[in-house]
Amino acid sequence: MSRPFYVTTPIYYVNARPHLGHAYTTIVADVAARYHTMQGSEVYFLTGTDEHGDKVVRAAKKEKMTPRAYVDMISKLFSDLWPELSVANSSFIRTTDPAHMGVVEQVLQKIYDAGDIYFAEYEGQYCFGCERFYTDRELVEGKCPDHETEPEIIKESNYFFKMSRYQDWLIDHIRNNPDFIRPERYKNEALAFLKEPLEDLCISRPKSRLKWGITLPFDPEYVTYVWFDALINYISALGYPDGELYRTFWPVVQHIVAKDILKPHGIYWPIMLKAAGIPIYRHLNVHGYWNIEQSKMSKSLGNVVEPLELKNVYGLDAFRFFLIRDMAFGLDSSFSEDSLVQRINSDLANDLGNLFSRVLSMVHKYCRGVVPGVEAAVEQECELGLEADAHSAIDDYTNLMESFQFHNALRAVWKFIGRMNKYVDVTAPWELAKKKSSRKSLEVVLYNLLEGLRIISGLIYPVMPETAAKMQKHLGLDSSAPFYLLDHLKSWKTIKPGTQLPKSIVLFPRVDLSSKKIDPSDRPQDPNRHPDLKPEITIEQFSTVDLRVATVIQAERIPRAKKVLKLEVDIGQKRIIVAGIAEKYTPEELVGKQVIVVANLKPAKLMGVVSNGMLVAAVGESGPTLATLDKPVDPGTPLR
Ligand code: MSP
Repeated sequence: MSRPFYVTTPIYYVNARPHLGHAYTTIVADVAARYHTMQGSEVYFLTGTDEHGDKVVRAAKKEKMTPRAYVDMISKLFSDLWPELSVANSSFIRTTDPAHMGVVEQVLQKIYDAGDIYFAEYEGQYCFGCERFYTDRELVEGKCPDHETEPEIIKESNYFFKMSRYQDWLIDHIRNNPDFIRPERYKNEALAFLKEPLEDLCISRPKSRLKWGITLPFDPEYVTYVWFDALINYISALGYPDGELYRTFWPVVQHIVAKDILKPHGIYWPIMLKAAGIPIYRHLNVHGYWNIEQSKMSKSLGNVVEPLELKNVYGLDAFRFFLIRDMAFGLDSSFSEDSLVQRINSDLANDLGNLFSRVLSMVHKYCRGVVPGVEAAVEQECELGLEADAHSAIDDYTNLMESFQFHNALRAVWKFIGRMNKYVDVTAPWELAKKKSSRKSLEVVLYNLLEGLRIISGLIYPVMPETAAKMQKHLGLDSSAPFYLLDHLKSWKTIKPGTQLPKSIVLFPRVDLSSKKIDPSDRPQDPNRHPDLKPEITIEQFSTVDLRVATVIQAERIPRAKKVLKLEVDIGQKRIIVAGIAEKYTPEELVGKQVIVVANLKPAKLMGVVSNGMLVAAVGESGPTLATLDKPVDPGTPLR
């Protein structure tokens, strides 16, 4: 048995539903884990959810739920999703698990006792709406991005972790272990952070402003900062300090994260481990970001890609294959449904699917579906180097999988698939079948092709476990022995002649691009997409707003103002109104239109023009849509 393997994903925040990005990291971890089972290793694969902190409290409040009920609900979305994506994690950790909370307390106490945590006063910019401090960079024009208010400077006493003390040690560690953080670009990025003096890390929050967290073991008035709590999941899940799992798996741990959380994993975490006297992790594997058609995936842009939706439309293995094949591990990638469909049609339906059905249908046609025997006399002349090519594909594949270059590992497999397709063309079994004298050659060729398919079925197992199992069944492989073990794959001629094979199947149907589009209007709606309802008002209060029907008489652009138009409207009298609708409406299409205006709004100067009123519009993610009337009405008519 090879040495054990331990792989982790980040534990995901429960303030958002699982999306494509979470699915990618977790599927990568699953691929790495499955690859190591191919080597015969004992594997432990951990994922989970990060459930403390003010973000979670705010998200729960928005849903009008208690933090406890809220974290239970969202955490379940994650834990229920993974089996649907064939993710075979060994366990699922939640930072609200009591066992985890106990380990966080132990580690904090250890670092505190070692003298690396101190108490000091902190002054910062605090938003009372968000109940948190903001750094200059997080503020937008000096204001809180959520509340659009200026933060107040407040002083607060907190506990700090002396990271600065370990800065030189960490620089040496990264330099002496060149693959500690990989790919190299992220190692360089971490070293670049470390060029600046490291600030000590504030690791507490007073309970007066945050209760949803783990109490500091040395001060009951404070809870632990969420990153300090979260990172410890990687050891608490193994039963640190003396669990059997911890002893077996911690020495070989590899973390997988995206570039957004390089700093906590590449800087805070090794320093925390060092300060607590815990061995440092082996590798931090950092990948890039999935963007959606060139832009960032975000709730407000409404372009969040739901993994289950893709799985349901395109099939799970095709979805997993696309994610692993299309992103070069470490670089950003752009997701589009078109590129997914292209991958399915070219790599899966054409290359692999065709090869599989071509070979199996020939075995059925020429050998009644029975695996042929191999005649030594013709074996060599019909082999044409196929076995050697299979071996070199396996070698390339293993090296690339080891070093987290999954997309290249798949390319190595597809190179061999190409080689197999060529072998069919060159040997032309349909020609061999025409003459009795070439019967033995035909059998050797078909046998070799079945062997090649057996190796391919093993190599694709980590990425497409369901397809691999289907292929195995149709190749008549012994299901009691794992067909994907690398040792088995490396030996040639293991399929038993005489085995009756089941009828062939289509592995991947071709996808018609036009018929398979996911309709965004079918997407489940995000319940938080609109602001909360405003407090109740009386009819008298409502009647103070003077809403009138207005006919647009003229409309024009204002020089250098991209977003607004200047309108002249008739509301029984003429008015000038400046409206922020230039990105959705042209001046020409507005003239003659009847719209609704707030007629008694205090005049305001916008882009140098005094606006006497405001148009009423529905303003959603796609911009403003004007409120209009379904029949013409006398301009100036009031609305009630
Ligand atoms: N809770 C922290 C992690 C604590 S680990 C001790 C956190 N959670 S998160 O929910 O924001 O997850 C971030 C991770 O989700 C990324 O590092 C990455 O693994 C995955 N992704 C989220 N969006 C992504 C993309 N658009 N593209 C690729 N992966 C991304 O940070």
